[in-house]
Amino acid sequence: LDLLGAGAFRAVSFGISLNIFETIGSNALTLQEISVHLSCDQYALEILLEFLCSLGYLKKTQSGKFQNTPLTRKWILRNAGPSFADMITVWDREVFPIWDRNAETVMKTGRPSITLYEEFKAKPDAWRSFNSFEMAIANWLKGVMLSQIKLPQSEPTKLLDIGGGHGLYSISFCQKYPRLEATIFDREESKQLALVNIASNKLQNRIRFQSGNFLSDDLGEGYDVAFLFNILHNFRKGENLIILRKVRDSLVRGGTLAIFDNISGLASPKRTVDFFSLAYLLTVGGRCYPLSEIKSWLDETGFINPGTTIKLPGFVKATRS
Ligand SMILES: C[S@@+](CC[C@H](N)C(=O)[O-])C[C@H]1O[C@@H](n2cnc3c(N)ncnc32)[C@H](O)[C@@H]1O
Repeated sequence: LDLLGAGAFRAVSFGISLNIFETIGSNALTLQEISVHLSCDQYALEILLEFLCSLGYLKKTQSGKFQNTPLTRKWILRNAGPSFADMITVWDREVFPIWDRNAETVMKTGRPSITLYEEFKAKPDAWRSFNSFEMAIANWLKGVMLSQIKLPQSEPTKLLDIGGGHGLYSISFCQKYPRLEATIFDREESKQLALVNIASNKLQNRIRFQSGNFLSDDLGEGYDVAFLFNILHNFRKGENLIILRKVRDSLVRGGTLAIFDNISGLASPKRTVDFFSLAYLLTVGGRCYPLSEIKSWLDETGFINPGTTIKLPGFVKATRS
């Protein structure tokens, strides 16, 4: 079964690269129509399409035409809201090869010789694709995130979005709160995409991008709220304590820290979390941490009242003491 899963992933990725799902769109097309459109050999294409049908990504009408299934329309097609097509491509072409390159060193030393972020420095296209996956997730989650973090509507408020990358969370909060100003603190490599997103939402006056390394650079001060979304899993305990102390120093007393991460023991099945732990280990040297450990770090670094919600597993909100 695991072999089948590996093959299924590759077949879907292959289908995305060949543009099969977008070509079919909302139509029902014959094998011949698809093969002409994609300039593919019919004999070969049929074998791939049949496997995609067996996997539930395509289905066949009674007259033998191929259609996308609701699952494909929802998660793969690019015009139907958040699409995971780029995520599948980037995992296939970039992330799993990084596993292969790092596996031996990580198992011997506990750390990768080169992290995914370092690899992507020289590959802007891969970095963009990787981010479109993060953006798909942010678009998917931003509504529930907005419902969990309440800010004043009429008072000026400052947000620090640490490792905010693409900027979509800062953008959605600034859209909801007219007096909010945000700083996205991320590596220089993330700047271009963030600035494009900020400009396309006409928020240049309220969101700025600060380039830097949050492990070593000053984060500033006087912030009312800080986001640490999908950051802790990138690092080991010692680094996370450094980050949390810096975040504490950047917040005003009583300020809010919102963490969102792939936290073990919360809603995801154990094997999903274990998969991500191995993925983080091999690509960045981190892992998924249990809630109890994150709470103990918060306690150690000067945060109180950590709380979670069943509406968004992986979300932890705490107050700077
Ligand atoms: C997994 S992404 C999360 C992006 C966004 N917060 C989200 O949840 O969609 C991690 C982000 O942290 C940034 N990052 C990683 N290490 C960093 C460091 N040492 N200093 C600054 N940014 C860093 C990456 O560039 C990337 O944008």
